Amino acid sequence: MGIGVINKYRAFLPVTEDTPSLSLGEGDTPLVKSSRLGQELGCPDLYFKLEGCNPTGSFKDRGMVVAMAKALEQGSVGVMCASTGNTSASAAAYSAHCNLPAFVLIPKGEVALGKLAQAMAYGAKILMVEGNFDVALKLARAFTDKHAITLVNSVNPHRLEGQKTAAFEVVDDLGDAPDYLFIPVGNAGNITAYWRGFREYYQAGRSTILPRMMGFQAEGAAPIVRGAPVANPQTIASAIRIGNPASWQSAVEARDRSGGVIDAVSDDEILEAYRLLASKEGIFGEPASAASLAGLMKLRRQGLDLAGKRVVCVITGSGLKDPDLAVSSIAAHAIEVKATLAAVEEVTLGMMG
Ligand code: F0G
Repeated sequence: MGIGVINKYRAFLPVTEDTPSLSLGEGDTPLVKSSRLGQELGCPDLYFKLEGCNPTGSFKDRGMVVAMAKALEQGSVGVMCASTGNTSASAAAYSAHCNLPAFVLIPKGEVALGKLAQAMAYGAKILMVEGNFDVALKLARAFTDKHAITLVNSVNPHRLEGQKTAAFEVVDDLGDAPDYLFIPVGNAGNITAYWRGFREYYQAGRSTILPRMMGFQAEGAAPIVRGAPVANPQTIASAIRIGNPASWQSAVEARDRSGGVIDAVSDDEILEAYRLLASKEGIFGEPASAASLAGLMKLRRQGLDLAGKRVVCVITGSGLKDPDLAVSSIAAHAIEVKATLAAVEEVTLGMMG
């Protein structure tokens, strides 16, 4: 068996003999048991699904590999996406791998530096749009409706097919589905994909339960929670700065059918979870990723009892994507020392107490 989600989960994916078996090594990401936060939060059976371990540092690679393989199968001559950064990084990488041109539309000034660096390095054609993600997505849809370029946003059905493999992995690792799945919500594709994955595995007899889907938007970008599009979404978590999610309806369905919730967390709650995840677990996720843990912490404060429940938080992308925010928001101290053993001893032993 080769590497990657197409090889591993072929039977569950829309692939044929003619679909190229592409991979950059996506999927098979670690499900890490919480070492400290689970105990402290009264949720000892807590796991983190580390999607930052994918080849371009986010979960997008799972769907992109399938979308790209299908595009090649169909003779596509190029791909386009709108993105808050991770989709563009992933599309750029896979199109470089397949020698297809990639055009990425990103909201000007709103994409984290690491993601922009990736799209540039992989050689995508980058169009900076004067507008937010929702405007960029509308333009990408209009362009690809008119021209023979494949849209690889999650409105491309192959994207969600690939992304559902993360749910398969969670079940394969735990031996069953968890009781709860906490996940950030932006364009709402990933919560839709996980729910589909859990349902398909359940129907195939691979699990005996279905999890409650617990989705979290940022407070300033929470259209699903408010029940109306947000014209000018604002949050520090730029990956989920989205005011009119493409998969809105299917996310609501996942919530309602699973007995879950879609709620909002504030930027302060996101940043607190972001810091705790790194400093107490050794897991450096990007701010949007921390919305899952922030949501769990919020519901715990409101009295949700998770004792005896198996809980998974999806950490959707790597913290290295957004180095500026890490440096500016984490109060770390770097102490200057003279280049002598005595100076190093003085400082180090002083800090050991
Ligand atoms: N977490 C990260 C790190 C993301 O990049 C995204 C979405 C989400 C969560 C939300 O997932 O959109 O499926 O609900 N990023 C998209 C992008 C919008 O363009 O990279 P969703």
